[in-house]
Amino acid sequence: MKRIRISIDGPAGAGKSTVARALANKLSYVYLDTGALYRTVALAAKKEGISMDDSRRLGELARRVKIRLVREGNIEFVELDGKRIGQEIRTPELGRVASQISKVSGVRQALLSLQRDLASSGGVVMEGRDIGSVVLPDAELKFFLVASFKERAKRRWKELVERGEKVELSLIEDEVQKRDKVDSEREVSPLIKPKGAIEIDTTDLTIDEIVARMYRFAKERESAGA
Ligand code: DC
Repeated sequence: MKRIRISIDGPAGAGKSTVARALANKLSYVYLDTGALYRTVALAAKKEGISMDDSRRLGELARRVKIRLVREGNIEFVELDGKRIGQEIRTPELGRVASQISKVSGVRQALLSLQRDLASSGGVVMEGRDIGSVVLPDAELKFFLVASFKERAKRRWKELVERGEKVELSLIEDEVQKRDKVDSEREVSPLIKPKGAIEIDTTDLTIDEIVARMYRFAKERESAGA
């Protein structure tokens, strides 16, 4: 049985992280959250006080810092220059900064080889915005997840509330709308449905239903590539 590379792309709040993690578990594959890499560069930029408009310094920063995705048991986290990074990259603010800095081609270029290295051994579920289109255009299985705008905002909002943050749903709706715009209108690797990707609308599906559907496709591809 071949251990394949699976890409999952889609807009913020389409359910990518949750299903990608569950699918990876079910297949005994490695889950790779590429948004965490962009968020970590965003954090580093914030710490160094680099302006979001300074493409040159942002590119230089992304090339200079050492970012690793680390797994300990079933917990995964990021290391930035040898230091463990926690939930501080999961705030809406860092999401916004990540979205801004991800427009810079030097940043994308720096993270490209890291992402390809991470996926090179196969047996991975890699989630992001340009995985099936740019990072792994020859992935054996590609998914594109979508959901209605209202539903996506609601999911993001619930996530934050469950983490103990007090935020208004309307604020999150604004955030999601802005992020959609930046992510899909940027010049370098915009969010698009990759060629050959299977589109799943997750608005009215449960996590289990989505994962079961993806799992069936994965098993088919694994046997086809054996
Ligand atoms: O999935 P996320 O919310 O953690 O991603 C944060 C931002 O990072 C997202 O708005 C755009 C950027 N990103 C990207 O440009 N390409 C990826 N493969 C993953 C994330």
